[in-house]
Amino acid sequence: MITVALPKGRIAEETLDRFEKIFGERFVFEDRKLILERGEFKFLLVRNQDVPTYVLHQAADIGIVGLDVLEEQESDLIRLLDLGIGRCKVVIGSPMGSEIDHSKPQIKIATKMTNIAKKHFAKQALAVDLIKLYGSIELAPLVGLADAIVDIVETGTTMKQNHLKIDEVIMESSAYMVANRNSFYEKKDKILELQRQFSKLKEVRE
Ligand code: PRP
Repeated sequence: MITVALPKGRIAEETLDRFEKIFGERFVFEDRKLILERGEFKFLLVRNQDVPTYVLHQAADIGIVGLDVLEEQESDLIRLLDLGIGRCKVVIGSPMGSEIDHSKPQIKIATKMTNIAKKHFAKQALAVDLIKLYGSIELAPLVGLADAIVDIVETGTTMKQNHLKIDEVIMESSAYMVANRNSFYEKKDKILELQRQFSKLKEVRE
């Protein structure tokens, strides 16, 4: 049995869609159920940021999760494959029509990705005051909570509609297939086979 942690939403759907193509079976969660068992697979539906936790504690053998989440949490997992789905960018954004004032003693940055932000600004030797938020990050500079944000951009619509511009791209992200280290050695053949099947499917699509 291979247990797979999936992040609720589009990435879970697209991943299950690929499982359907590979195994020629239907893989659909019933209504509000969070576990789906089919053949030798068990799927868990979890919150995106919780995927590394399930895999790290071996509650799941493998997981599908964004590179941004992996970088933020610095989880010690085996990165098996970039699925090329769920593409987005982690960016620094600030209000349109003005520049971030680097002469200020401390720039205030609102973000839910404090580790990525901290590392990035440390590399540039910039003193910043990080303000941790859990969502609607784009609001912070509009009401004076922060000078700028570090956040995810997918289509760019949220930033545009809130009159923010991208100042810098910190990293590009997409969904990765990851594995628990022990699971990988215990179930190496099956996991490598799955990796092979997924990468073959990816080649066909590219
Ligand atoms: C993310 C991100 C942006 C939005 C970007 O938020 O934090 O707010 O998506 O998408 P766009 O570029 O396509 O407009 P999410 O939907 O995860 O919600 P959250 O703000 O509650 O974290």
